Amino acid sequence: MTTGRCPSTQAPERNVPVAKLFTPTQVGPYRLSHRVAMAPLTRMRSDPGDIPSELMVEYYKQRTTKDGLIISEASPVSIRGNGYAGAPGIYSDTQIAGWQRVTETVHARGGRIFQQLWHVGRQSHVDLQPNGDAPVAPSAIAAEGHAYSTRGEVPFSMPRALALHEIPAIIEEFRSGAERALRAGFDGVEIHGANGYLPDQFLQDGTNKRTDEYGGPIENRARFMLEVTQAAISVWGADRVGVRIAPSGTYGSMSDSDPAATFGYVTTQLDRLGIAYLHVVEPRIKGTEELSHGRAPIAAQHLRPKFSRTLIAAGGFTPASAEAIVTFGDADLVAFGRHFISNPDLPERIRQGLPLTRYDRSTFYGGDARGYTDYPTAEAAAAA
Ligand code: FNR
Repeated sequence: MTTGRCPSTQAPERNVPVAKLFTPTQVGPYRLSHRVAMAPLTRMRSDPGDIPSELMVEYYKQRTTKDGLIISEASPVSIRGNGYAGAPGIYSDTQIAGWQRVTETVHARGGRIFQQLWHVGRQSHVDLQPNGDAPVAPSAIAAEGHAYSTRGEVPFSMPRALALHEIPAIIEEFRSGAERALRAGFDGVEIHGANGYLPDQFLQDGTNKRTDEYGGPIENRARFMLEVTQAAISVWGADRVGVRIAPSGTYGSMSDSDPAATFGYVTTQLDRLGIAYLHVVEPRIKGTEELSHGRAPIAAQHLRPKFSRTLIAAGGFTPASAEAIVTFGDADLVAFGRHFISNPDLPERIRQGLPLTRYDRSTFYGGDARGYTDYPTAEAAAAA
C-alpha cells in the first residue's frame, strides 16, 4: 500500500467455503470461470474531453481476471447526460480510442468487459450542461444531493421537463453510445437504469408526473427504459445487453408508490426482450422488512422468478453472503464495488480467504493514481 492512508485490512471471514463462486457461469454468449464481477464504479479520472486516460487502462488491467466480468464505470452518452466532471464519455468518436486501449488490455488478460451507458437526467448542475442550460428530466422536480462540477460538489440544479418530441433524440443518444461501445471493442453494454438516473426517473412515479405516453400507468413509465434497451439491442443483439435496476434504492431522492408492481413489470418486460442479464442493486438494509416508505425492500430473490437468464446481484456483499446468494440460486453472479476499489485481486483474495484491504473514501471520486492504481495485490503486499 503506497498511499499510507488506509493500511488496515478487514478481518477475513475465515473458514467460509466459497466453492460455488468459483464455478463457471454464462453471461450471454460468454462463458465465465467465476462469479465475482466488478461493479460499475465512477472514479472520475478521465483526460480533458472526457477521454479515457492511460491511468484508467492500468486500473482496469489490474482488476482483470481470466474469464471474469468487469462492468465499466458509468459512461455518459451525451454531454447533457453527465453530472460528474471527469467521467469518461462515449458520446464522441474521439473517446473511442481511449476505450479501445482499455478493452484491448482487458482482452489481452482474458477478461470480459461491458460498458455501462449513462444519462444522469436531473442529477446534474447547470455548470456541467451545454450553455449553462437546466438539466433534463421527465418532470421538473429537483433531487436532493450533489453533482460534481470542476468546482467540486454542487447541489443538483432544478431540471426542466423534456418535451415529448425531445425523447427520441435521447434514445438515439443511447443507440449511438451503444454503437461507439461496439467500435471501442467492449463485449456488451449495460443500460444504467438504477440509482435515480434518467431511465429510473422515468420509471418511478415519485419523479415522473407526465401525462403523455411516457407517464402515468407503469406501462407508460417503463416505456423509456424499454426503448433505450431496444436501441442497445438494435446494435448488439439482446444477448450482449444487460440492464441495471435499483428497486429499493432511494439515492437521488427516488420513490415509487408501488415498487413491487413497478419493478415486477419492468423485470418481466426485460425478460421478454431476451437481454443477457438483469443487474439488481440489493437493499442495503438486510434482515428487515422496513426500508424507505415503510415498504418491504425488493431484492434479487423477489425478481428471480420473473427473469429467466443471468441475474447479477450487487450491494453490500461480503464473500460469505455472495457465496450464499449464488448457492441459493437467487443470483448467478455477485458484483462487488467498494472491495474491488481497494483489492485489485479481489476474486483471488476471496478464493483463498485472504484479508481484504480497506478502501479509502476520500479517493473514490477524482484525483490521481493515489487510491486508484496503488492498492497492492495480496502477493505484492506480502512481498513488500
Ligand atoms: C458506485 N456505484 C455505481 N453504480 C453504477 O451503477 N454506476 C456507477 O458508475 C457507480 N459508481 C460508483 C462509484 C463509487 C465510488 C461507489 C462506491 C459506488 C454503485 C456500485 O456499483 C455498487 O452498487 C455499490 O458500491 C454497492 O456495492 P458494494 O460497494 O457494497 O460492493
